[in-house]
Parts: sequence; C-alpha cells; structure tokens
Amino acid sequence: MPSQLKLTELISEDKIQAKVKEIGKILNDKYQGEPLVAVCILRGSFIFYADLIREIQTDLVSEFFGVSSYLNSSKSSGEVRLTLDLNSPIEDKHVLLVEDIVDSGLTMSYLQKTLGARNPKSLTTAALLLKPGCLKVDCQVDHVGFEIPDEFVVGYGLDYQGYFRNIPYIAQVEGLI
Ligand code: PRP
Repeated sequence: MPSQLKLTELISEDKIQAKVKEIGKILNDKYQGEPLVAVCILRGSFIFYADLIREIQTDLVSEFFGVSSYLNSSKSSGEVRLTLDLNSPIEDKHVLLVEDIVDSGLTMSYLQKTLGARNPKSLTTAALLLKPGCLKVDCQVDHVGFEIPDEFVVGYGLDYQGYFRNIPYIAQVEGLI
C-alpha cells in the first residue's frame, strides 16, 4: 500500500517553482510572441505543464497527447503505446512538447519521431527531470529542469501505481529499484 512506502524529498516545491519560472522565461525569449502549440504529454506532465504554460506570454493553444509505457510498473515495458492523439494538425506550427521525466528516453524518442513526422515549423522539448544514467536511446531534450540519479521518483505529476501525483514536490520512493 502507498501509505507503507517511505518517501524522501529530492526536489523541493520552491526549487521546482523557481525552475519552472526560469524555463518559462527562456521560452518567452525564444518565441517572442509567436503563436505556439503546447503539448501536454499525459499523464505525468499535467502539473508541470499547467505551471509552465502559465509562465508563457504568447498566443498558445493547449493540446494533449497520451502515451504510456510503464503500465502500472516501476520498470518500462520498452514499448510506447499511444493512448490519445492530438485534436488538430501541427503542420507549420511551433510546437512545445512538455514531459515530466526522461528516463530510458524511449518515450521522448517516440514523441519526437511521431510528432516530428507531422512537419511542425519547430519542435522544442522540455522535461522537468532527466535521468542521464538511464538513457537507452539517443534523444535530445532542449530544456531540462533537473538531472536526477537512477531512483524511482514520484510527486508533482509523477506516480507510483496512480498514487502520489498530487504531492507538490519530487520524492524518492525507497525500496523500489
Ligand atoms: C512516464 C513519464 C514519461 C515516461 C518516461 O510515463 O511520464 O512519459 O514514463 O520514461 P522513458 O524515458 O523510460 O520512456 P508512464 O508510462 O509512466 O505514464 P504516465 O505519464 O501516464 O504516468
């Protein structure tokens, strides 16, 4: 049961919020008021996404794209499944992909391939967390909030079996890896 798991804070709420503002500022400078399609990668990025887009002052359309590879497990299945497609075409549009975490990189690589093939004007990626030691595929992430060690983390949108997404900080779960 989740209540029996021990959580240890890894990144505080204050640090996360400061980082979100920092990335938001960089993105504002980058887009300079040009229209943008911001894509929330469901489900884990929904809180990071909600905070980040509120830092961006440009004409912004919100889109949602669902993928899943962990299937209620703490280890990736190695196969990325599309669970929800975008509502509108992104051809010739500036697109920002917002992810919570890049772990093996399989999901980000799949996203870049799949959405890149739809010919956006530009495709920029932002991920709150990156586990550099875990990358299994070569994938470029343009804006990374924090690099973290190979620990199972939850909170701020990230889950363990659906739990803990509501915790406002990033925590390490003991005993899962
Ligand atoms: C998590 C996370 C990323 C992906 C990263 O999604 O949100 O999308 O795993 O892992 P990778 O780099 O090894 O591919 P998950 O499949 O757990 O679904 P969720 O976002 O709905 O929790």
